[in-house]
Amino acid sequence: MCGIIGYVGRKNCARLLVDALKTLEYRGYDSSGVAFFHDGVIETVKAAGRIENLEKKMENYWDVETHCGIGHTRWATHGGPTDENAHPHSSEHISLLHNGIIENYQELKAFLTEQGYTFASQTDTETAAHLMDYYYKQTGNFLDAVIKALGDIRGTYAFGIICKDEPGKIICVRQENPLLIGLGEGENFMASDIPAFIKYTKKYLVMEPGEIAILEADKVTVVDIDKNPIEKTPLTVTWNYEAAEKGGYPHFMIKEIHETPSILKATMLPRIRDGKVCFDDAELPDSLLKDAKSITILACGSAMHAGMVTKYVIEKLCRVRVDVEIASEFRGRQPLLTEDDLTIVISQSGETLDTLAALKMAKACGSKVLSIVNVVGSSIARESDYVVYTWTGPEIAVATTKAYSAQIAVGYMIAARMAYVRGLMDDAAFRSFTGTLLRLPELVSSLIAREPEFERIAKSYCGYEDLFFLGRCLDYAASLEGSLKLKEISYIHSEAYAAGELKHGTISLITDNMPVIGLVTQSHLIEKTVSNLKEVNARNARILAICTPPAESLLYFADDLIVLPQAPNEVMPSLSVIPLQLISYHIAVLRGCDVDKPRNLAKSVTVE
Ligand code: AGP
Repeated sequence: MCGIIGYVGRKNCARLLVDALKTLEYRGYDSSGVAFFHDGVIETVKAAGRIENLEKKMENYWDVETHCGIGHTRWATHGGPTDENAHPHSSEHISLLHNGIIENYQELKAFLTEQGYTFASQTDTETAAHLMDYYYKQTGNFLDAVIKALGDIRGTYAFGIICKDEPGKIICVRQENPLLIGLGEGENFMASDIPAFIKYTKKYLVMEPGEIAILEADKVTVVDIDKNPIEKTPLTVTWNYEAAEKGGYPHFMIKEIHETPSILKATMLPRIRDGKVCFDDAELPDSLLKDAKSITILACGSAMHAGMVTKYVIEKLCRVRVDVEIASEFRGRQPLLTEDDLTIVISQSGETLDTLAALKMAKACGSKVLSIVNVVGSSIARESDYVVYTWTGPEIAVATTKAYSAQIAVGYMIAARMAYVRGLMDDAAFRSFTGTLLRLPELVSSLIAREPEFERIAKSYCGYEDLFFLGRCLDYAASLEGSLKLKEISYIHSEAYAAGELKHGTISLITDNMPVIGLVTQSHLIEKTVSNLKEVNARNARILAICTPPAESLLYFADDLIVLPQAPNEVMPSLSVIPLQLISYHIAVLRGCDVDKPRNLAKSVTVE
C-alpha cells in the first residue's frame, strides 16, 4: 500500500525524491521519509503526517550534493504513523524501505536482539534493515547480504536498499508487491508506480517476484536469487506526464470524473468494429466465452461493484450463471470451480492482494482467468490467461471513478460478445447494442454538464450523518457503488439496500427526514421500486429519486428528482453513477474532507 522511490544518477536528488513521493502519495499518506547519501554518510529525514511535514523538515537539504537516495510514503500496518515508524529504516550499514509485511518479524527480532541489535520502531520492516546489516558484517558484500537476508524473511515485499559503503548503488527486490525500474539517460529509478518517474523517462522494466535489481547511474543489472543474470525487455509508458497532474482541477477525483467520456471512448472505440465487439488486442478466443459453463467474478470494493453490474448484464444477455465473489471471502472458502468455468477478475491497480490471491486459487482449480485491468504489466495482468485493459491512464484519486466506468463498459462488451458467440444475439442486435455503447460518451458528457444541478443537491444533503440508497437489480448494483463513494470520501454513513429487502428489518431505521436516494432506471422494475420509495415516504423519509423519464411522473412525491437520459436498461449504471459520483464529490468538498486522500485509505490495497 506504500509508495516507494529510489534514484541514482547525476541530478541533485533531494527535491526529486520528495516530489516523486508527492506523485505516489495516493498509495499511502500517514507518514513519509527519505534517506540519501551526502558527504559520505546516509542522511535520513522522516515525518509523521502528510508530505508537507517532510518538506518542512527538508528545508535545509534541498541544495545539498546528493545523487542517490530512497523515499517512502507509508500506510501503517505495524506501529502507528509516527516519525520513528516512518521509513526508511536504518541499521549501522544499511538503510531500506519496504512495501509489504514481514510475517516472521517477531522471530527475526528475537534473533537480532540476541545478536545485540536494538530497535527504534515498532515496525516489521526494521528487522529487515538489521538482518541485512547482520549479514553485511559477515560477508562484507552488499548483494550477498541482501540475498542471505531474503532467505530468512517470510512475507510480502518490495524493498529498496542502500549501503553506507556503496554510495552510488541501490539494490531493490520484489516478492508480492509492485516494483518498477525507470530507465533514464545516466540515471535510473526504482518505484512502486509510473507517476514517480514519468517526468524523467517513459522506459521501464516490470520486476517479477524473486528478481533483484542493482541500480547504478549508468547501468541496471537484474539477477535471480542465485545471482544468475536475467534479460528483461523494457516497456514504454503509453500516457503523458500531464495525465498524472491535476490540470487545473482542484482535485484528481473531479478531473477523473470529467475524463470519463474520453476514457469510455479509449476503452470501447478500438474494440467496436462493423457493429461488433472484437477483443483482438487481448487475443481472446471466442471458445472461452462460448464454452464456459458458469462464470465467477472476483474483485474487491468498487471493482466488485463493477462485477455486480457485469453479472446482471451477462446473465440477461447470455443466460449463463454468474457469481460475484468478494475476493477476500472467496479465499477463505474451498471454491468449487472447475476447468469448465470461467473466472473474470476485475482490478484497476492489478495489485490488490486479495484479488491476486483469489485469482491464483481459481487457476489452481483449473479455471481459465480473464482479467479486466487498468495497469499494464501489473501482477494480476501477468497472472491471468487473458487481459482486457481498460486504458483509463493513471487514476490518482483514491476513490475510483473513471476506472469503474471503464470496467463496466468492458463488462458490457464481454457480455455482448459472449451473447453473440453463443448465438443469443444476431448481427442486427449486436449492431444495436454497440450503437448504444457508442452513444455512452455523449450521454455521460451531458450529465457531467449538469454538475451545477448536482452540486445544489449536494448542498442540501451534506449535513446528514446517515443515508440510504435503494434500488433493484442493476439499480442495486449502482447503489452499492454510490453508497461506497459517499462514505469513503465524505465519511457520511450510508447503506445500499436492495429496495425490496428494506421492509425485512432495516425499514425500522427510517424515521422523519432520513435521506433516501432511490434509483429507478430499470424499466421493468419501475412500479415495484416506486412502491418501495412510497413505503419510506409514508415514514417521512426525505427522498432523492434518480430515474429515467418513464418513472418521472410516478415519483411526484420525491423531494428531489434527477431525470437521466433514456437508454437501455443494461447500460443505465454508466449514467446513474455520474450524479452519484458528483454528489459525493461535492458533499465531501462542502464538509471539508480531503477528497483525494480520504482518512485511513490507500489507492492500492496490497495487504490482506
Ligand atoms: C473505491 O473507490 C476504492 N478505492 C476501492 O474500493 C477499490 O475499488 C478496491 O480497493 C479495488 O481496487 P483495485 O480495482 O485496484 O483492485
